[in-house]
Amino acid sequence: MKICVLPGDGIGVEIIAEAVRVLDVLNSDGLKMELEYAELGGCAVDSTGSPYPEATQKLARAADAVLLGAVGGPKWDVLPRPQRPERGLLGIRKDLNLFANLRPAVLYPELANASSLKPEVVSGLDILIVRELTGDIYFGEPRGISVEDGKRVGRNTMIYNEDEIRRIGHVAFKSAQKRNKKLCSVDKMNVLETTQLWRDVMIEISSEYPDVALSHMLVDNAAMQLVRAPKQFDVMVTGNIFGDILSDEASMLTGSIGMLPSASLDENNKGMYEPCHGSAPDIAGKGVANPLATILSAAMMLRYSFANEAAATRIEAAVKKVLAAGLRTGDIWEEGTKRVGTREMGDAVIAAL
Ligand code: NAI
Ligand code: MG
Repeated sequence: MKICVLPGDGIGVEIIAEAVRVLDVLNSDGLKMELEYAELGGCAVDSTGSPYPEATQKLARAADAVLLGAVGGPKWDVLPRPQRPERGLLGIRKDLNLFANLRPAVLYPELANASSLKPEVVSGLDILIVRELTGDIYFGEPRGISVEDGKRVGRNTMIYNEDEIRRIGHVAFKSAQKRNKKLCSVDKMNVLETTQLWRDVMIEISSEYPDVALSHMLVDNAAMQLVRAPKQFDVMVTGNIFGDILSDEASMLTGSIGMLPSASLDENNKGMYEPCHGSAPDIAGKGVANPLATILSAAMMLRYSFANEAAATRIEAAVKKVLAAGLRTGDIWEEGTKRVGTREMGDAVIAAL
């Protein structure tokens, strides 16, 4: 199993180091993972001028999975858009055809107080948002800012073809089959034709999954329902822009950005795995970042790309054990728990493993 490791920028370097130490433990227990490092984002801009340089493309394409820290930071915000770190991220997603973004939002019982919602509303929350990642208004043409009739006009295009909708639909239905057989498709079919097609295609393929109950919700209502009664959802599937917003909303119900992993998959379960958070420039280099989102992303990698459920649950169980023992990084710390740094958290997970 070849893994391309991209630490990236800011805390990316610190948290990836801990995830790699966890993988090393599994390797020493007999797994055969080969790790190769490359640059993505700001660090790549600094050394090559491109946020997704050719050497990284080569390695990422040849690997079975990519493990990414985070990219970006204020240092690079002054650059023209094509050279910004975030373009590296969009570039690798598109290049590897990672159209399926899986974002679990799980509230660990030990972190119940981290949520801004009442315990009875969120306790036991465990939802999975399946977001389409390579289409929609983020990539649609035409786009840009132009001058028309003496006025500046901004333009983006929301576009999906039925094949793009169908393939993300299949990922979502299959995910629902492995969980509680409930799928909610989110659209805005009352005003957007693109999403009318989205709904039509979801209904069409639902006949292949008779064991899954498919429901539909308009995106504005979904945003409300997520804060009103989030536990009504199990798996949600939606397009790129709605999924961007709803998955951030859902993840924040758990109150702990440092805990949230993600997977982005292609058609053959090759994937890129990364925490949901960014490079956290405010705490970078201080050794206080929470490495658990990245460690849990490595667990998702074992589950989805390497079909090693046992190793994935072993990592997840170790994380739960560490939380139960009361260890907390700053982002999830509360009165009565023990505050630890990035390295100590990694040590604790390894000990629990
Ligand atoms: P951010 O997620 O980096 O940070 C938001 C807040 O959460 C900060 O206060 C940060 O300290 C805290 N935080 C994030 N991860 C943490 C962790 N593991 N442990 C403890 N605290 C943590 O989002 P922000 O500040 O909006 O963006 C910073 C940079 O990251 C920007 O350049 C942005 O473009 C980039 N970014 C990159 C992403 C990626 O690589 N996938 C995703 C989101 C942002
Ligand atoms: Mg986002």
